[in-house]
Amino acid sequence: MKPARALIGIAVLSAALLPALGAQTPPANEDESKVPPYVLPDPLVLADGRKVGDARTWKEKRRPELLRLFETHVYGRTPAGGPKRRFQVTKTDPSALGGRATRKDVAITFGDGAASRRMDLLVYVPNAPRAPVPVFLGLNFQRNDAVKWPVETIVDRGYGVASAFYGDLFPDRADGAGESVLTLFPARQGPDAWNAIGVWAWALSRALDYLETDRAVDAKRVALLGHSRLGKAALWAGAQDPRFAMVISNESGCGGAALSKRIYGETVAAITKQFPHWFCANFARYAGREAELPVDQHELLALIAPRPLYVASAVEDRWADPKGEFLAALGADPVYRRLGTDGLPAHEMPAVDQPVQGQIAYHVRSGGHDLADYDWRQYLAFADRHFPAGTAPRRR
Ligand code: GCU
Repeated sequence: MKPARALIGIAVLSAALLPALGAQTPPANEDESKVPPYVLPDPLVLADGRKVGDARTWKEKRRPELLRLFETHVYGRTPAGGPKRRFQVTKTDPSALGGRATRKDVAITFGDGAASRRMDLLVYVPNAPRAPVPVFLGLNFQRNDAVKWPVETIVDRGYGVASAFYGDLFPDRADGAGESVLTLFPARQGPDAWNAIGVWAWALSRALDYLETDRAVDAKRVALLGHSRLGKAALWAGAQDPRFAMVISNESGCGGAALSKRIYGETVAAITKQFPHWFCANFARYAGREAELPVDQHELLALIAPRPLYVASAVEDRWADPKGEFLAALGADPVYRRLGTDGLPAHEMPAVDQPVQGQIAYHVRSGGHDLADYDWRQYLAFADRHFPAGTAPRRR
């Protein structure tokens, strides 16, 4: 089941046509000339006004400040600790994909007894290499047996694949919390309580916990990838958990890689109205008041620095604001450079289908909202560059 753009269009339209039905979300602005002037916060300026001059100040002072701001105003706090976890490989098929891969079904159980929740992680690792392999990890929309990733292509390029169904963690409905892993945490309270995106991000870190125990995997080379709402979750996971070696955002849009203050495509008002279960309650307070947000999404991207980051858009996916995604990647660039790597090798938005790849990469693909083969080709090339073969220790 793929989230349908058409449905979103109808939702926006009906809000515009039927004001009597309740809260009003203004129709989406898709006219560049109507983007209001806005000011982005400087990711390299500390709350006390000092400039971040070195990597240490970034790591010890600014990074925690920014994480706190995103927890408080956007995604909610991820509690430390949490329920007991157990990993169990329930099935191993050493001759998957015509003998080219080993497939493992891993049950990751949170908590005990009747109240426990379970995430099924599907893992493929190529059989050919003798060293632990880098892996692409991400949540999926369709359940594991219907993962729409080009698994054979990825495996043939020497990468593993790991994926879990996002609905196992938090069913994607306004009332999904009662069936989510949140039930295993002490009651959430307050306007900064975490919600679905926080839970999906948390689960990605738990999947990485498992991958760290799998000897076929090089857990120091895990590329986290997410499409759309799952791209938002991937970015938030990558921002919080520095163990992820690379993060790839495919058309994550509002609340993901796109700037909120630009008011183009989906807005804070639209997203918090239609998906009240995604963010913490505080985020909705910025509906129509984006200028007051103390952070913007370029700072989320900066929290991934200095690790390789790929932000991708599709030109017809105006709802996700391709230009706002590019500008956020550009806005993260100074942080990468301050940390001593290169950043995004572009000052202007590149032409359609002309990827630019440095430590930050960006492309805007022709076509609409999708995780397409074109996107995968760029991500594999990006991973080849940053995870060169032979850098992993040999399997014990
Ligand atoms: C909707 C939603 C977006 C989201 C997308 C998706 O369009 O408004 O924020 O990214 O669904 O997950 O496909």
